[in-house]
Amino acid sequence: AGALDNLPGDWVGDDDGRFSPMTTWTQDELKTMVGQAALQYVVRGQLVGVGTGSTVNKFIDALATMRDQIAGAVSSSQASTERLRALGIEVFDANEVGELAVYIDGADEIDPRGYMIKGGGAALTREKIVAAQSRQFVCIADASKQVQCLGRFPLPVEIIPMAAQRLVRQFAALGGTAQLRMKDGQALRTDNGLQILDVHGLRISDPLAFESEVSVWPGVVTVGVFAHQRAHICLLGTPQGVQTLQFAQAL
Ligand code: A5P
Repeated sequence: AGALDNLPGDWVGDDDGRFSPMTTWTQDELKTMVGQAALQYVVRGQLVGVGTGSTVNKFIDALATMRDQIAGAVSSSQASTERLRALGIEVFDANEVGELAVYIDGADEIDPRGYMIKGGGAALTREKIVAAQSRQFVCIADASKQVQCLGRFPLPVEIIPMAAQRLVRQFAALGGTAQLRMKDGQALRTDNGLQILDVHGLRISDPLAFESEVSVWPGVVTVGVFAHQRAHICLLGTPQGVQTLQFAQAL
């Protein structure tokens, strides 16, 4: 048996004895890798904050293997709550519990400082609430989510429906084109019964200032820039394996 037998996929060695993967991981496999890697941040005997999305679904599946070692979860969406419960993990209301040791969630974009765009799954408001309740945010993402500057992914903003047209004009003044997110021919309704605007064409060079500014616009419930709630750590799924990026110390 060779040294490579324990590694998943096919590997090739060069003349200097370095090995690199022959396989190109699919995006789905990268998500599985980071979902499993996140288990090391789960604190035994405690509650864990759980985000939303396809990457988090991999984490939830992995978390099921240690469900007897945790106190349960606080969830950021109905979808994640259902998945957690189906796997036998107890879900608590955020109001029933105090501060959480760790929150694990994906991102639509993450920049070199750990600032993120989130909300592709429309769960941004509850995600920001659970993130704020947690001492450490561990972002799990495949390498396609890494950007130098936020804004390529259309920025999700959860809004009060009455304010929609006024907010479209306010984003236009910043150079963005805002569109109401639709589902089955109707405006999508979030878990909170509200709507989402997706804003195209922004370049968010100062995420902290941008989040502060847009958050006070009347009718904005949550802007999908996570700068005040940035990631402390990102587990990034790359063709070379899981890279750990540290942006800040846990609170
Ligand atoms: C959910 O509202 C989002 O914030 C997700 O975290 C984000 O869309 C990442 O989802 P995927 O893991 O499916 O890419």
